[in-house]
Amino acid sequence: MPNAAKVKANMDHLCCLTHSLPLWYGRAVTSCIRRHPAHMTHADILAKLTALKGEIRRHDTLYYAKARPEISDAEYDRLFRELIDLEQLHPQLVTPDSPTQRVGAPPLESLTKVPHEQPMLSLDSLLEQGEVRAFDQRMKRELETHSIEYSAEPKFDGLSVELVYDRGIFTRGATRGDGITGEDVTVNLRTIRSLPLQLHAHSGLPDHLVVRGEVYMPLADFQALNRRITEQGGDAFANPRNAASGSLRQLDSSITATRPLVVTCYEIIAQSSPVQPTHWDELTRMAQWGLAVPTHRQLCPSIEAVMDFHQETESLRDQLPYEIDGVVVKVNRRDWQDRLGMKSRSPRWAIAYKFTPRKEITVVQDITVSVGRTGTLTPVALLKPVEVGGVTISRATLHNADEVARKDIRIGDTVKVERAGDVIPAIAERVPTPGEQRTAPFLMPDRCPVCGSNVAREGAYSYCTGQSVCGAQLKGAIEHFASKHALNIEGLGKKTVAHLVDEGLVRSLADLYRLTKDDLVALDGFADRSATLLLESIAGSRTVSLNRFLMGLGIRQVGQHIAKVLAREFESLDAIMCADRERLQQIREVGPEISDSLAAYCSEPRNREVITQLQESGVQVAPGMAMGDRPISPLAGKTFVFTGGLTRFTRSEAQHAVEAGGARVSASVSKKTSYVVVGQDPGSKLEQATTLGVTILTEEQFAALIGQAGKDVS
Ligand code: IVH
Repeated sequence: MPNAAKVKANMDHLCCLTHSLPLWYGRAVTSCIRRHPAHMTHADILAKLTALKGEIRRHDTLYYAKARPEISDAEYDRLFRELIDLEQLHPQLVTPDSPTQRVGAPPLESLTKVPHEQPMLSLDSLLEQGEVRAFDQRMKRELETHSIEYSAEPKFDGLSVELVYDRGIFTRGATRGDGITGEDVTVNLRTIRSLPLQLHAHSGLPDHLVVRGEVYMPLADFQALNRRITEQGGDAFANPRNAASGSLRQLDSSITATRPLVVTCYEIIAQSSPVQPTHWDELTRMAQWGLAVPTHRQLCPSIEAVMDFHQETESLRDQLPYEIDGVVVKVNRRDWQDRLGMKSRSPRWAIAYKFTPRKEITVVQDITVSVGRTGTLTPVALLKPVEVGGVTISRATLHNADEVARKDIRIGDTVKVERAGDVIPAIAERVPTPGEQRTAPFLMPDRCPVCGSNVAREGAYSYCTGQSVCGAQLKGAIEHFASKHALNIEGLGKKTVAHLVDEGLVRSLADLYRLTKDDLVALDGFADRSATLLLESIAGSRTVSLNRFLMGLGIRQVGQHIAKVLAREFESLDAIMCADRERLQQIREVGPEISDSLAAYCSEPRNREVITQLQESGVQVAPGMAMGDRPISPLAGKTFVFTGGLTRFTRSEAQHAVEAGGARVSASVSKKTSYVVVGQDPGSKLEQATTLGVTILTEEQFAALIGQAGKDVS
């Protein structure tokens, strides 16, 4: 087999290993129980359980880590059922590392935040050969050597996770989050069959091991999932990465279990026993422990070999069953990695050598204008469907009128469409064809295509002035109001909102609270039960915390985070409505743009009317935040300044503790400083703090505060 074909066959194999857990899996607890012989002694049962678990684990490794399955799916399912049945008869013998424990946790209220053991860094991205050669030169200069060996592997386009194994047992997994703190998705990760719940104990398995990997969804599964979702009236995921992220960050792990996710591991982040001398050895070790690692990878003795690997991998890209968007290049020797160290957010010893975004040629069949939630008019090109990297594209955004003019895109033009990572498909450029007869240039309409109101222009952007008169804006406003992080009205999805508005049943947010069962059952797709459920969930949203209500109003610049900041700062909705720009800007995270937007919103009588109507229809806004919205750490969002020498911590330890709690350290005192920590021989910052009335903490008080934060986080 030629090399490229071999590589592809190898990668294909890994990638067809995408089976999600069988659909019966989440319901396994209620499966029928086959009786085991009554004469089995306790020791027999234990031995049988151990043998079954060992056998299933062995097949998992063969299937996922080694890509060499020995039995059929049906045989595997039989083994699995046998284990479930036996465990059901003897529930006291179920161990946390049993393959049956991949599902079984009750749904969660919210995902808990967890600090990472080591910051989860990202990578510097390079696109040009010249930049990659310059990287090689820099490495050689810094390491004072003429030759460096690199290890190269694909850059998987998913979401990265941290996996913790204690004594070989998978104990915790978290998403990257902000790199310092992630979300605990342990129970969801357990449902991924390529993730071993127990590692093989040989080959120097450390007691404590933290690895990093990527969770992703193969393209074919992504497309099938989207088909399933749209058939059921839901919103399709924009790309496989979002689908992977949405599937992993679920509150109900039985949903994750039905999603075909795959994990591949590519870094050891921490281990209690001695480290391997090279990255290549790390990958080899991980594979021996049973973890799936990139099978397509190469040791490159020079940067030229890296170029070849990049080119070869890029040529395979479109045939691969999953998305990769480049090649990750790592200095192979660990001691050299340590010497090179890291920058604030990325290691110096590794880069992502990205592929050029994929472009395909097609024709613009029409240009329509869509109206968004905030009234922005966006020109959208309707394209002759074309496949770009495995995803069929039939629409591409043209952003705004200036962009259309700059690229000079007209109906009938031949164009190049590109799709890069999670970016919405865009038209890269027009491809002029000799002798073509072009249509007239596109002009933005001066009337809203949805409601006919006047269109206003602000810089490059056009807006519909119709506000709630405009169906599109009203639909958007309701969807946003009902969304998960706002009033969280379940069952009020895009389709239902569209029906309610189109049928004239809802003309304002407050109308939601006047809906009756008769209104709903008259709508397409509603039965008695679904109508009752929706009415219950609307009624349940009548009492809402201040932050969620603020978020739900859809005020520009006021998203989930700022809504929380405001709810923390102000007693009530009235207090926010009365606050002027100056008062708002005293809040650390509120700058001029946010305060202007809030003030503009509050001074508009129509908006005040929306709030009054909601209150009149029985919506009660409780001050402060709901339990689930409260920051986990009391430090979150605070700013610390240190002055004088600390005795119990070094400055960097103190900084680390502060940052781990979601706070930040600043060098100077201002009105927005939350605490000044005073050590021995403090400087002028103490005086400034006293003048500005900032809370002063002794080192002991600081230690108590971070101790408290540590407790809260754990
Ligand atoms: S190594 C300390 N290797 O790419 C270095 N990352 O923009 C940690 N990624 O956030 C990263 N495939 O999620 C590494 N083979 C690979 C990767 C990979 C995908 C992701 C990772 C990271 C992002 C960097």
